Amino acid sequence: MTAYTALQQTLRTQPRVWLVTGVAGFIGSHLLQTLLALDQPVVGLDNFSTGFAHNLTDVQNAVTPEQWQRFHLVRGDLRVPADCTQAMQHPLAGPVQLVLNQAALGSVPRSVADPQATHDNNVTGFLNLLVAARDASVQRLVYASSSSVYGDHPDLPKVEDKVGNPLSPYAASKAMNELYAGVFGRSYGLETIGLRYFNVFGARQDPEGAYAAVIPKWCASLLQGETVWINGDGETSRDFCYVANAVQANLLAACTANPAAIGLAYNVAVGERTTLNQLFMLLRDGLAEFGVAADVQPAYRDFRAGDVRHSLADTDRATALLGYQPGDTLALGLAQALPWYAGRGNAR
Ligand SMILES: NC(=O)c1ccc[n+]([C@@H]2O[C@H](COP(=O)([O-])OP(=O)(O)OC[C@H]3O[C@@H](n4cnc5c(N)ncnc54)[C@H](O)[C@@H]3O)[C@@H](O)[C@H]2O)c1
Repeated sequence: MTAYTALQQTLRTQPRVWLVTGVAGFIGSHLLQTLLALDQPVVGLDNFSTGFAHNLTDVQNAVTPEQWQRFHLVRGDLRVPADCTQAMQHPLAGPVQLVLNQAALGSVPRSVADPQATHDNNVTGFLNLLVAARDASVQRLVYASSSSVYGDHPDLPKVEDKVGNPLSPYAASKAMNELYAGVFGRSYGLETIGLRYFNVFGARQDPEGAYAAVIPKWCASLLQGETVWINGDGETSRDFCYVANAVQANLLAACTANPAAIGLAYNVAVGERTTLNQLFMLLRDGLAEFGVAADVQPAYRDFRAGDVRHSLADTDRATALLGYQPGDTLALGLAQALPWYAGRGNAR
């Protein structure tokens, strides 16, 4: 039995009280769905800046009415300290024990365009949440960091202790999250664990807008017969991580009883390197059954400011200390996500 399977069994019999910030977003809504399906009481905090009510409706449709009643939504903002404090209490289940922080403004180019907004949401907002979590004496706070903290460090695969200079305001904001989390551990004894996500994808990831992530954006373009633009020569590579792996990492990090695991940051990825050219072909071929022509070709344009060239994770630390086992490869994840992008699947 894997550590994750064992944990799921434990949670069913010994539920905890959870707070998921960014609950109406892509990853947050998957965390909510998994936790409710395990009969956990969950507070969700979101300001709906990049999240959607329809993501929550999808979750409601995927769980039982009894499970849905365990969800309490706080419409609020990390930038408002009182909202963070309010979110530390579940009206039926009592004080929050475990926090999963997903709320942030994502996207490297968005941060290059508006560094102040990124700082306000991702750094000031995170600090407010840490203060509220400390004051509410939560047991642990797990937070979304990012592979972008590796910045200009040349080594591949990325190992957690070797980070370079951040290459964007977004990367700087996530690096500051890690600094503040460490300080709250040392200064106040708050238990934290950071998760450096590497290009997470799956159902409910927003395909719209200038700051959409590559997989949903390209799927939408292919399905609508629009040009797929590749920034650079297409040999830029990423370690694409299906959202189920990110959910697994969050739950394992929140509940680990291993004292050596606390206070660290972990790569959350698969450990598979895929170039953008390879990704294009996988998406084109995977969407063939939804009417995408087999001979569509991408168009190329300049590299994008702030992007790192290659990204590949070493996931040994998460496996050794948390029991993380990323079962969903890119191919398996796409098999689950593509029907959703084509409007033909349930959110999984
Ligand atoms: N998706 C990825 O590939 C990826 C990679 C690395 C890191 N991350 C991080 O993971 C987290 C979740 O990302 P996602 O892809 O689900 O993004 P998302 O935009 O779908 O979700 C973020 C959610 O946070 C909410 N939010 C934003 N600012 C807020 C604030 N100030 N107060 C309250 N709610 C706020 C948004 O409304 C949204 O629902 C983010 O912290 C992101 O930086 C994501």
